[in-house]
Amino acid sequence: MNQGIQTSHAVVAEGLGKQYGEQWALRDFQLAVPTGSVLGLLGHNGAGKTTAIRILTTLVAPTTGTAKVAGHDVVAEPDRVREQIGLTSQAATVDGLMTGAANLEMIGRLYHLPRKVAQARAAELLAELRLEDAGDRLVKDYSGGMRRRLDLAASLVASPPVLFLDEPTTGLDPESRNELWDLLRQLVGGGTTLILTTQYLEEADQLADDVVLLDHGKIVATGSPEQLKARYGGERVVVTVAADDELGAAAEALEKVAAGTAEIDREGLFVAAPASESTRLIEVVRALEEGGVDAHDVRRREATLDDVFFSLTSPRARVASTHATKDSDREEATA
Ligand SMILES: Nc1ncnc2c1ncn2[C@@H]1O[C@H](COP(=O)(O)OP(=O)(O)OP(=O)(O)O)[C@@H](O)[C@H]1O
Ligand SMILES: [Mg+2]
Repeated sequence: MNQGIQTSHAVVAEGLGKQYGEQWALRDFQLAVPTGSVLGLLGHNGAGKTTAIRILTTLVAPTTGTAKVAGHDVVAEPDRVREQIGLTSQAATVDGLMTGAANLEMIGRLYHLPRKVAQARAAELLAELRLEDAGDRLVKDYSGGMRRRLDLAASLVASPPVLFLDEPTTGLDPESRNELWDLLRQLVGGGTTLILTTQYLEEADQLADDVVLLDHGKIVATGSPEQLKARYGGERVVVTVAADDELGAAAEALEKVAAGTAEIDREGLFVAAPASESTRLIEVVRALEEGGVDAHDVRRREATLDDVFFSLTSPRARVASTHATKDSDREEATA
């Protein structure tokens, strides 16, 4: 890790910041991504993930700080950086009114590949991304998962050594997500450096060698998923309830006996809180009964990356994030 930061690191950033009006979308952002590794950028909506990706891919200039990708400065040598990177942005970039094959071929031509070579590369990528049967269909008729795979194929046309993926699996069903993870593992096995943002912490846990956790534009934690779990995790008590409207009461009851604040997972219908040595499940069950909560399941388990995430990002951030989502949606809609 310490030998020659230029050659051993595909991406290095120092004190990066981006200000929009009064607001800092990103602040004091540091990064050193070893060549051939996977970095996961995590954060709620509006945390600054896309801003970091945009700066590193030369799409916006930083207000402060410097960054190098594949040894080239993103501000001073944007063209050299672009030769070395692939980008799949959060919004789909492929043209819906062209076929999948035509999209990839066009991108190959933009990279100055001869037509034959561009066609061959398109066919090769369609096969790799299991889209060979869909290559001749218009992209507007693709499913979300197919479109995401084509987006990824588009970023791979020039075989870039450094790949940036902004929420590559958002909106995919679990099966498509697993398929894409396998593909990404293959790419990384071939030496590609991967920087990906995700809202799915399991994705980071599965793929990332290192994780950077962003909250309101600032880094709040970095380390491997294992390190983060060990450092900020510990054991949890998890209470699963029968229905959504029980979650509030379950959280309240759990907090009476647990060692910290309870986090609510509405999708999973459970609440989780840190447990200490002295936290006893029988007391949790009693508190739930007293609170009139219909609990399906009460258990202890080791912390996950989700727990780390929730304990390091404030509940207020989650309320504020509703607005941030709208902002970034608006921005993408008009981009
Ligand atoms: N072009 C812009 N003009 C003004 N504000 C912006 C612009 N781009 C981003 N922001 C603001 O900067 C903050 C960070 O946005 P960013 O898109 O980087 O977040 P994100 O982590 O990618 O969020 P999401 O998960 O919703 O994609 C947000 O508050 C957003 O509204
Ligand atoms: Mg984003």
